[in-house]
Amino acid sequence: MEIKTFGVIGAGQMGNGIAQVAAMSGLEVIMNDIKTEFVEKGVSAINKILSRGVEKGRMTEDEKNTVLGRIKTSVDLGDMAPADFVVEAATENEPIKYQIFKDLDATCRPEVILATNTSSIPIGRIAARTGRPGKVIGMHFMNPVPVMKLVEVIRGIATSDETFNTTWALSEKFGKTPAEASDFPGFIANRILLPMINEAVYCLYHGVGKREDIDTVMKLGMNHPMGPLALADLIGLDTCLAIMETLYDGFKDSKYRPCPLLRKYVEAGWLGRKTGRGFYEY
Ligand code: CAA
Repeated sequence: MEIKTFGVIGAGQMGNGIAQVAAMSGLEVIMNDIKTEFVEKGVSAINKILSRGVEKGRMTEDEKNTVLGRIKTSVDLGDMAPADFVVEAATENEPIKYQIFKDLDATCRPEVILATNTSSIPIGRIAARTGRPGKVIGMHFMNPVPVMKLVEVIRGIATSDETFNTTWALSEKFGKTPAEASDFPGFIANRILLPMINEAVYCLYHGVGKREDIDTVMKLGMNHPMGPLALADLIGLDTCLAIMETLYDGFKDSKYRPCPLLRKYVEAGWLGRKTGRGFYEY
């Protein structure tokens, strides 16, 4: 089946980035969120990134308008009925994702692939909420989506080869390089990245170094583009904590225990860039 119409659930930093790359690759996009103000914010974020592209001479004003014209917004999951492929990029909360997959399963045609951008929730667990587990797959984009080249493609235990091959090819159509991971907690990316970020938070908690020093060590000593604490602020501390909890629960291994300081920041509502304060102030 040719994919012409692409659905995205969630218009936040991941969802709007995914909608942008899909529209730039020529697909008609339906971007859905629960409130009109959320989808409007998503469109305005895409507009800002595309306008920067125009300023930098990467695209013309006409091309920008064509891309924006391909993105329709929605606040009703029922609007996903015409979609040929859907990616869910809602908040990293299991009950919310389960409900979305149940609703998508009822709305979308039976042959439509339902992908999730989850950073760590098991694909098989999400797939089991639908009547089409062979058509459920992980399609994990990295933040910021328009810049990062990777898509981690995760097979659930029931994911069919056809679903896998279609998702792999779609990632390439988006100009990304896919990598295959199995359905274990955190997959590959967050199994490796998040314990490093968590350890950086422990360094802060134990007073091993100040935030700037911890980040400078990793930036200049290991050539990372940004330090782990600044990266945690970019990802969102609530998401970082949710991923650590998934690793800890999934493996029952104390090496994945979330740092108490990370939890304290999340409880205080210091979630990083999106709330204006995390390990840094914005
Ligand atoms: N959206 C779109 N484009 C963006 C952007 C955003 N949010 N942020 C930066 N950019 C673009 C800028 O416009 C700029 O492009 P031009 O030079 O062509 O204008 C380019 O990226 C570089 O930006 P800057 O010069 O401002 O800053 P930088 O060189 O430090 O790059 C960065 C910024 C790309 C974010 C870089 O610091 C980086 O790669 N950081 C690491 C990001 C990372 O590790 N992401 C993975 C997070 S983990 C994840 O996503 C998975 C998960 O499940 C948690």
